[in-house]
Amino acid sequence: MAISLKVNGATCSVPAEPDTPLLYVLRNDLELNGAKFGCGLAQCGACTVLVDGKAVRSCVTPIESLANAEITTLEGLGTIDKPHPLQRAFIEEQAAQCGYCINGMIMTAKALLDRNPRPSETDVRQALAENLCRCGTHNRIVRAVLRAANETGRM
Ligand code: FES
Ligand code: FES
Repeated sequence: MAISLKVNGATCSVPAEPDTPLLYVLRNDLELNGAKFGCGLAQCGACTVLVDGKAVRSCVTPIESLANAEITTLEGLGTIDKPHPLQRAFIEEQAAQCGYCINGMIMTAKALLDRNPRPSETDVRQALAENLCRCGTHNRIVRAVLRAANETGRM
């Protein structure tokens, strides 16, 4: 059956069962590969997207729960020519090693900065505490989020 979703401002119809996890639809049907499959159990954060502005683990979010929801993925934040301040800050701080966790870090940080534009370092660390990074680049990731917050605050 076809399910209608609103992703990055565009409405699309996908041929999928209602209990299909959003992550599968994003990656397999819509070719939005920013969100990653890490654990599939809501444990790592690699699959995080925004649903109505809240950071959500798309690996355990069935598409049937998303009627009328605004879904935003990493691809919806910025472009190569015009990256979002968070994307730019992650590049400037070289915050990725393998990069697998970075989608979840950026999307979780986006939700944080939207509700708290001037977070402390403690705020950032708390917000990202449930996002796992096997490479151990946490310190650079935190610096990148604080850099983006500073930049956004000046704009
Ligand atoms: S893949 Fe969704 S939380 Fe790990
Ligand atoms: S940069 Fe490799 S998992 Fe975080």
